[in-house]
Amino acid sequence: MILIKNNDDFTSLQTKLVNLTLIVWMSTKNLGFVFFLLAFTLLVASCDDDPDVDGDLTSIPYSPVSYDPNIPSYLPKLTTPADNPLTVDGINLGRHLFYDNILSGNGTMSCASCHHPDKSFTDGLPVSFGIDGIGGRRSSMSLVNVGFTKNGLFWDGRSPTLETQALLPVTDPIELHANWPDIENKLRNHEDYPTLFRKAFGIKNKSEITKELAAKSLAQFQRIILSINSKYDRVVQGKEKFDDLELIGFSLFIDLEGSDLPDAECHHCHTLDLATADAFFNNGLQASSDLNGFKDAGRGAVTGHLADNGKMRAPTLRNIMFSAPYMHDGSLKSIDEVLNHYNGHGKSSPNKDPLIRNLELTPFHKEALVAFLNTLTDTSYLQNPLLKKPN
Ligand code: HEC
Ligand code: HEC
Repeated sequence: MILIKNNDDFTSLQTKLVNLTLIVWMSTKNLGFVFFLLAFTLLVASCDDDPDVDGDLTSIPYSPVSYDPNIPSYLPKLTTPADNPLTVDGINLGRHLFYDNILSGNGTMSCASCHHPDKSFTDGLPVSFGIDGIGGRRSSMSLVNVGFTKNGLFWDGRSPTLETQALLPVTDPIELHANWPDIENKLRNHEDYPTLFRKAFGIKNKSEITKELAAKSLAQFQRIILSINSKYDRVVQGKEKFDDLELIGFSLFIDLEGSDLPDAECHHCHTLDLATADAFFNNGLQASSDLNGFKDAGRGAVTGHLADNGKMRAPTLRNIMFSAPYMHDGSLKSIDEVLNHYNGHGKSSPNKDPLIRNLELTPFHKEALVAFLNTLTDTSYLQNPLLKKPN
């Protein structure tokens, strides 16, 4: 029996066949048998030219170039793990996967369907709909600055890292509703992906394309969705100044001491500079007479602590003007509705945060807060070619 394990075996098989053909011709002069052997040799040779047979990718160069996201010094470090450093080709692979319907069960949706770049990477809907048209229970989240999140992703923080998170939407029955073995197969047999995986991770063979590498590249892509060049940042860097209204809004937001303005309390939960405390609170969105009665238990379902029921992550307010409607259930349609919510006392429940109370903000105060929130807008990342939908 002839066992073909690699390219060398293959070439030696061809050589043996050619030699055998010559010997048969010399000894028997039997043309029929010689033609048969020649045809067989050609068949073997043609198989050899088809890269699908052994999936070898080593002829494609692998020369990773690291990517520097240029994070200003007053911001924390990104959550980049040591075994998944940012590289241009890693991000580029993630970019292709993020925008590609190949990750969905019926080829109709991608991550970008629910995370549009021009809506701060949300979908503009109260709750998201998956490939089967089934509405989820929660609103899509902005992916802006998601690479800073340390205390768990999703509204309830149930996913520890971007690397683990990226595996989930693909198999979620109300999202992309696919299965990874099928997708790995499609990626291995795709015209372009084997090369993209080779360049990103140096794999030697198509068979090394896995969901883990796909997730790593999606994580890299999402880590560079950075909105860190807003007017607020330029003020922090001393390059610009707030105008009068923005300054009043900022003072309200951070409860500036010594001012005669009321405390808006925002910064306790949406702490600057990232405009999030990266922590979980009950901000009075759900009414419940006891701790078991919340429609969405949120954080409590993850930790198993009754006192965490009804709590959700306070998300970043950077680029908040582009991600309406707001909150985990999409129940507040506009920033005005959000401010009216905080200016009321929210819906009652036993663990509603004490900061959710009547703030006594006037229409002028609300206008000032909106002016300040606008200074957290920075859409320059949309110009980054590594974030754009591939042609
Ligand atoms: C059907 C719509 C839909 C699709 C498709 C989808 N997402 Fe999401 N995404 C959501 C929703 C809804 C949430 C919030 C879910 C929750 O909290 O339970 C979310 C949350 C996230 C978060 C957490 C963000 C944060 O700040 O914690 C990340 C990261 C994310 N999605 C990435 C992806 C990636 C990567 C893909 C593609 C592999 C994807 N999503 C596909 C709807 C979607
Ligand atoms: C006690 C903590 C707390 C305080 C104080 C607070 N927030 Fe929030 N904020 C949250 C939490 C938690 C959420 C998410 C709640 C949910 O979806 O269930 C949230 C959500 C939001 C959202 C929606 C984000 C999105 O992506 O949908 C906006 C906008 C917002 N807050 C603005 C403000 C402003 C402005 C203030 C000050 C007037 C403020 N918050 C005060 C905790 C707080």
